[in-house]
Amino acid sequence: METEVDLSVEFAGVKLNNPVWTASGTCGYADELSDFTDVGKLGGFTTKSVTIRPRQGNPVPRAVETDSGMLNAIGLANIGVDEFIAEKVPILEKLPCAVFVNIAGETIEDYVAVARRLCEHKAIAGFELNISCPNVKHGGITFGTEPEVVKEITRAVKPACGGKVLMVKLTPNVTDIALTAKAAVEGGADAFSLINTFTAMVIDVEKRKPVLANRTGGLSGPAIKPIAVYMVNRVYNEVTKGAQIPILGMGGIRTTTDAIEFILAGASAVAVGTANFIEPGCTNKIAEGIRKYCQSHQVNSVRELTGAVE
Ligand SMILES: Cc1cc2nc3c(=O)[nH]c(=O)nc-3n(C[C@H](O)[C@H](O)[C@H](O)COP(=O)(O)O)c2cc1C
Repeated sequence: METEVDLSVEFAGVKLNNPVWTASGTCGYADELSDFTDVGKLGGFTTKSVTIRPRQGNPVPRAVETDSGMLNAIGLANIGVDEFIAEKVPILEKLPCAVFVNIAGETIEDYVAVARRLCEHKAIAGFELNISCPNVKHGGITFGTEPEVVKEITRAVKPACGGKVLMVKLTPNVTDIALTAKAAVEGGADAFSLINTFTAMVIDVEKRKPVLANRTGGLSGPAIKPIAVYMVNRVYNEVTKGAQIPILGMGGIRTTTDAIEFILAGASAVAVGTANFIEPGCTNKIAEGIRKYCQSHQVNSVRELTGAVE
């Protein structure tokens, strides 16, 4: 007889039907994805970053393929919080899965203002804090690389979330990711997502110019997966295991095996980003794959696998 598998996960108090989400910036605001897959079956949906005012983003070219990955410098192009509330929240309200809104800004006050505008909306289970943005008040250094700033921004945004979950999205562009994770816990983070992209560069050798108009971009996709798995395991062991704080693991997930690796490393749930550009329905396939893995390994609940690497 086949093992009955429970794929549900409680993520910082939010009930998920399965542990597989979409990653921010790769599936718009859900309507873009619905032609390709059943968005109702997703474990969770994370929106593109939303900022206080609309943003055009960076000049083109702003994405380029690399070996086993891609580089992007979209520059947080988005419709801004007012249009997001008017046009997108009504769509997100219809989704049966947990919806997290990724918020971004140039100052701490920007982030607080976006969270305040959205905290009353029932469709939203929580916020993902994108701290990989340049902080204009600190000379353009990203918020997420300085532990003190990570604590400060988390502490400032938390009261603006109206009791909804605040998930801090960690950048891998640091020497020790456990230090920024600890700082976010001190600031009141309810959950983590990791990792965001690695700062990287591609050069056109004929033109002797960077391929991206922005010069640099963020590297994502399978190329970054083993580093992402390591970082999830480090944050799990050093910070979240004791504190019972869940991790949404991401970085190069393309297959069921990739997803299981992240869960064994310490993630309670996983998100798929770049792989959506190759196969937009892969998120739901990965969830089904996790069920089959559990069945064939006599695992009753996916929750048993979190952090189960020896
Ligand atoms: C085209 C593109 C746009 C992205 N936009 C955002 C964004 O707006 N906010 C954010 O926090 N992360 C953004 N990300 C990062 C992803 O959410 C994810 O953290 C990263 O790509 C690693 O996962 P992956 O290798 O599965 O893509 C973006 C990634 C890509 C490829």
